[in-house]
Amino acid sequence: MNMLNVALPKGRLGERVYAMFEKAGFACPSIKENNRKLIFENPEAGVRYFWVKPSDVAIYVERGAADIGVAGKDILLEYQPDVYELLDLKTGICRMAVAAKEDFRDDPARPLKVATKFTNIARNYYAAQGRDIDIIHLNGSIEIAPILGLSDVIVDIVETGTTLRENHLSVRETIVPISARLIANKANFKFKNEPIEAIVKSISEQMEALP
Ligand code: PRP
Repeated sequence: MNMLNVALPKGRLGERVYAMFEKAGFACPSIKENNRKLIFENPEAGVRYFWVKPSDVAIYVERGAADIGVAGKDILLEYQPDVYELLDLKTGICRMAVAAKEDFRDDPARPLKVATKFTNIARNYYAAQGRDIDIIHLNGSIEIAPILGLSDVIVDIVETGTTLRENHLSVRETIVPISARLIANKANFKFKNEPIEAIVKSISEQMEALP
């Protein structure tokens, strides 16, 4: 049987999203067993799930290893994968923002040193303003960069703001709101249109039913 392959982001967001798929009629009870398996399937429901690193979901979907998946808008903006964005799942809500030390004052006469994991988003944002920047690509713990003088500002995800606050940084500008999106491989969207549309419809209805 032709299974629908679904890439889910490992972690809390993925578990929330799986619950939406489950309600949509694509349950896979074995996924709830506590083990370290990464692939789960339910042939009766015609679905196979795999847990992947959140930033890798779009790669699986773009290349067709997964038919659909759930990726943050941050990843879609940063890597611009060639996929369809089917639905805003209105979960995993946060924003991409510029943050700096409380006492930082920008000097437009010199390039702004920007530390970030999201180099394309940062480049596009400052290019649109005609602002010269010096990008410093980091892989995590970005908040440390301005504290140690490695950068003037950071471009990073802010959810509750706790990480910034606890490191004496504050948001200077919001670049773009972020949330989880349901994405589909372009060719497989045609071949497996029926189950994909069924999921989109059911999840949309679930979201409309929310208060
Ligand atoms: C993100 C981001 C911040 C933090 C913001 O990191 O990079 O560090 O969350 O959340 P807050 O505003 O609620 O404090 P994440 O936990 O995704 O891990 P990462 O360091 O791998 O980016």
